[in-house]
Amino acid sequence: MARKIINECHLLPFDLGVGIESMNDMGDSSDMLDPGIETFFDSAPPLKDYVSTKRKVGEFIELNSSSSRNKTFRRIVCVTSGGTTVPLEQRCVRYIDNFSSGHRGAASTEYFVKAGYAVIFLHRRGSCQPYCSTLPQDPLLECFELTGESSVQVHQSHAEAIKKALKGHNSAVEQGQLLKLPFTTTFDYLQMLQLIALSMKSLGPLGSFYLAAAVSDFYVPWESMAEHKIQSTSGPLDLRLAQVPKMLKVIRDEWAPMAFCISFKLETDTSILLKKANMALRKYDMHAVVANELLTRKEQVTIVTLEGSTTVRRDETESDSEVEKPLVELLVDMHSDYIEESMRIACEK
Ligand code: PMT
Repeated sequence: MARKIINECHLLPFDLGVGIESMNDMGDSSDMLDPGIETFFDSAPPLKDYVSTKRKVGEFIELNSSSSRNKTFRRIVCVTSGGTTVPLEQRCVRYIDNFSSGHRGAASTEYFVKAGYAVIFLHRRGSCQPYCSTLPQDPLLECFELTGESSVQVHQSHAEAIKKALKGHNSAVEQGQLLKLPFTTTFDYLQMLQLIALSMKSLGPLGSFYLAAAVSDFYVPWESMAEHKIQSTSGPLDLRLAQVPKMLKVIRDEWAPMAFCISFKLETDTSILLKKANMALRKYDMHAVVANELLTRKEQVTIVTLEGSTTVRRDETESDSEVEKPLVELLVDMHSDYIEESMRIACEK
């Protein structure tokens, strides 16, 4: 069903031709941004790997879009994962961090790949990775043994797990379904999110965002940040943090207005969780908000939409089941409906 919709879409009036040339021609959207967002991007240190990241994203979209020579044609989802850091010094020794192991994003990536999507996995460097959840927790060197002067092999006890992880990972990469892009700071994350969103704009409703990253709400603007390590001999530290603008609405209004957008709401107080998720849904014009509570986040989540809310749970009868399986399955179906509806509207015009 999903595949049928995608192929039909090919014939319809969405501009899906995302050539490298058009990617380079994305232009500067800063003149359309609200002042908080403009200030954030103006003060951010430029992304180090901007050119190569833009090239990789462009090639990945090209490979999976209709304009590609090999005619591979997939929906593309940008999965964000892990927490962003806020540096306190330009030559950073100390930073504020946001809680997130990255498990949600990594596991969800595997289910999106399984559902036929191409995934841009925008993740915190060092956080959980797709296909790695079954890998041994032992220190790396304990997984291997020397079998001669110059040969090494995996310990038999770990061989199956490592083989399984390698197969899953290599297949996703070889099929062109997985692009992994790491970030560390909030500055990196939001600049990369902007780059990816602008690159995905021409995918129309076939593009999607699954924003599971835990993004800092406060930051130290680069120009007011100490250059060198802050000295403890100077006494107690007073910090004034500026507010990080929410980028959710900008994705919807400007960067990729037709993309299917899912954001997350994390709370520790269940009594306010659904109310906050509903508020975010409306305020940022999301298609769905996934509400989760810190302690039960691996057991159940609630998907909040304008039509109502649905709770999905991990299958407790299976020891290795994950809540991301029913979550992603439901979201893929919702995305299919969204594409169908968008096509219908486009045809009527
Ligand atoms: O990684 P795990 O350990 O598996 O845990 C998963 C998770 C709990 C981190 C994940 O399921 C989750 O809930 N992620 C979002 C947590 C969060 O920071 O919520 P928030 O209320 O601060 O932000 C809400 C949404 O706005 C998020 O989708 C976030 O990506 C986005 N945001 C936040 C701040 C900001 N300045 N801009 C944003 O776009």
